[in-house]
Amino acid sequence: MEAKAPDMYILVEREDPIAVVTINRPDKLNALNWALVAELADALDALDRDEAISCIVLTGAGNKAFAAGADIAEMADKSAVTMATGGFESWDRIRRIKTPLIAAVGGYALGGGSELAMHADMIVASENAKFGQPEILLGIMCGAGGTQRLTRTIGKYRAMELCLTGKQVSAQEASAWGLVNRVVPEGQHLEEAKKLAHEVAKQAPLAARFTKEAILKAFEMPLEEGLQYEKRLFALLFASEDQKEGMRAFLAKEKPAFKGR
Ligand code: CAA
Repeated sequence: MEAKAPDMYILVEREDPIAVVTINRPDKLNALNWALVAELADALDALDRDEAISCIVLTGAGNKAFAAGADIAEMADKSAVTMATGGFESWDRIRRIKTPLIAAVGGYALGGGSELAMHADMIVASENAKFGQPEILLGIMCGAGGTQRLTRTIGKYRAMELCLTGKQVSAQEASAWGLVNRVVPEGQHLEEAKKLAHEVAKQAPLAARFTKEAILKAFEMPLEEGLQYEKRLFALLFASEDQKEGMRAFLAKEKPAFKGR
């Protein structure tokens, strides 16, 4: 595995065709300050443009936290104007990453940490993972999508309970609620997420990106429009070399060699 020179808060390790991005601020439980989120968005953008990378795993350094939320020390004195104008540009960039993204969560995923995990397309959690939206305990509320993505994922009543009480739920409970794809023994979340990433990275890259795009559209579009959207992407894949290769290989009883073309 080739390691990139460490930046201030984010580490990128390539294991083509996957990459592992690590939030590296363990002394503050990977609390998300603005510089960190900007650096994370830069790292993810760069990997998203890199054709050799077909799936990205996002995790937190140390075994205590994926991320314990936005940086409270940094936020404490901010004005409403600052928060309304500058605060979420980097989050929007993360939201637009087209490459499938898997969050590997060990320990706390709270507030912005839980919201960041929900920016991923799948979540693998260690048994010691804890999810929650404790913003209400600080006199604020979710700001990076928690009220919207949680509600769409776990439903109104559970989302209300988490966001109105600030309580934390275990990985098992989050899994039973459909927030987590799989729960693994403590400390094995990264290995398991990497295995899953390699499974995804084996697929035709364009088909995987279009699939991600279509599934995310289901959150935004009425069914009729979503079905049309899906059909257009489906048809477009018939312009790809990988569609010809995938079907040729099936009929020849061979393994396909996808190229992302
Ligand atoms: N912001 C800044 N620093 C944080 C932090 C955060 N969100 N979470 C933890 N830290 C820091 C602590 O201040 C502490 O630093 P020092 O050693 O310098 O004192 C260090 O990380 C270790 O934390 P604790 O000593 O508190 O560790 P603990 O094991 O006793 O408790 C915890 C762990 C329950 C997660 C506790 O740290 C905690 O409650 N953290 C805050 C969680 C939170 O409220 N998150 C939501 C933030 S708001 C938000 O995210 C808004 C949004 O939607 C965008």
